[in-house]
Amino acid sequence: MLSRSALSRSILRTRLFSSSRPARSDALFVHRDTPYNNPKIAFEFTPENLKRAQEIISHYPPQYKKAAVIPLLDLGQRQNKGWTSISVMNYVANLLEMPPMRVYEVATFYTMFNREPIGEHFVQVCTTTPCMLRGSTEILDTVCGHLGGIKPGQTTKDGKFTVIEVECQGACSNAPMFVVGDDFYEDLTPQSTKKILDAFKKGEKPKPGPQSGRLTSENSAGLTALSSKPYGPGEFCLPEFQ
Ligand code: FES
Repeated sequence: MLSRSALSRSILRTRLFSSSRPARSDALFVHRDTPYNNPKIAFEFTPENLKRAQEIISHYPPQYKKAAVIPLLDLGQRQNKGWTSISVMNYVANLLEMPPMRVYEVATFYTMFNREPIGEHFVQVCTTTPCMLRGSTEILDTVCGHLGGIKPGQTTKDGKFTVIEVECQGACSNAPMFVVGDDFYEDLTPQSTKKILDAFKKGEKPKPGPQSGRLTSENSAGLTALSSKPYGPGEFCLPEFQ
């Protein structure tokens, strides 16, 4: 039997398991009917989108057409002003002859499906490590502050902007960055962030890509490799290279 002091020493030495913060909201997973989002609101693809949907479905064997569920939900979300309502999900389920529950499972699993209405400009600020190390916290603060002090997950009162935090968008070499609609804005500073948002406010379309002036993800320090003629056995000797 351990003495009292040995017991307290052993308790002190016990490593604590890290634990996640409990999620107290079911907003991500549960649908509740609202006046703007309920199954009675009709939805169907426009003739043009229906043609696109049929083209997508034709990529799969007929018995596996449910494999088209993600691109079809995406098509539905784009047609439905950027969000996937319960009617969009039911319509896709019907089109693919799937149980609606299977479609709900997909739409609730992938965070790219917005299940609440969003603003005209959907600003997704990347705050994963490479962006965070290059100032994404300041960029997120600038975006929220410049849009009237909204918080991530909120929409401005005029319905123009929705801001959220997202994980890595695959543009880490041009961090920090955010996405607006389908466009990437990279190499951001608080100044360029405000400029981009102001342009959207005026109804303009700011130029996507790196805001630092470099081309795509070229080295911002200039050419540092392969800057002279190669030598030795690797040297090209074909006439067109001489
Ligand atoms: S971490 Fe931001 S784009 Fe990769």
